[in-house]
Amino acid sequence: MASNKIIVAPSILAADFSNLAGEVHAIEKAGADWIHCDVMDGHFVDNISFGPMVVDVARQQTKLPLDVHLMIEHADHYLPRFVKAGANSITVHVEPEAKHDVVKTLKQIRDAGCRVGLSLNPATPFEAVEPFLDKIDLLLVMTVHPGFGGQPFRPEMMEKVKRAAEWNKSREQKIDIEVDGGINAETAHLSIHNGANVLVAGTSIFHAKDYSEAIRELRGE
Ligand code: DX5
Ligand code: ZN
Repeated sequence: MASNKIIVAPSILAADFSNLAGEVHAIEKAGADWIHCDVMDGHFVDNISFGPMVVDVARQQTKLPLDVHLMIEHADHYLPRFVKAGANSITVHVEPEAKHDVVKTLKQIRDAGCRVGLSLNPATPFEAVEPFLDKIDLLLVMTVHPGFGGQPFRPEMMEKVKRAAEWNKSREQKIDIEVDGGINAETAHLSIHNGANVLVAGTSIFHAKDYSEAIRELRGE
């Protein structure tokens, strides 16, 4: 069931990895709702980040929901390891380059007891995810091309956020609408205005002096 409060999910991709446990404690204390784990394999995206081991480290440090974003090929093959590592929600990509059967993988995530997420890149039209909306709990609209934190927000992605919010209007079981990439106080406000309710932010939180102020600003408080 989608949450009607604004959820802030800091991406640990931007955290100080020499002190990951401390960073997880700090963002929890600062008011984070979820911990966003950006997994990259160097194939689906042109970067390598981390695997289930780091998700497990985060799991040991917090009770907050772990929102795992798999920017990898063959997510179906690796899924069990992220479930075992303690993922609460697992998001996979709809693009053919992700090399998995989307319907099968979404069911696999559901059967594993995790919340089901589907993501689309900026170049992927909203139509690509429409056939799957009734099978997911969360739609992740990428507002940058995935691979690196700190990229500029792409405002034209708001059209997709609006389409997802429109879809929600006709549904009893609403999906969370998450945005990821270049999210700061200003782009968070724009995303919320267009219908997003989950904000992933890496740079704007972890590069801030005061994490709780950064999180409050994202919420528009
Ligand atoms: C894909 C990653 C990034 C990261 C957030 O590249 O998913 O979007 O989480 O990046 P920033 O630092 O822009 O918040
Ligand atoms: Zn992400």
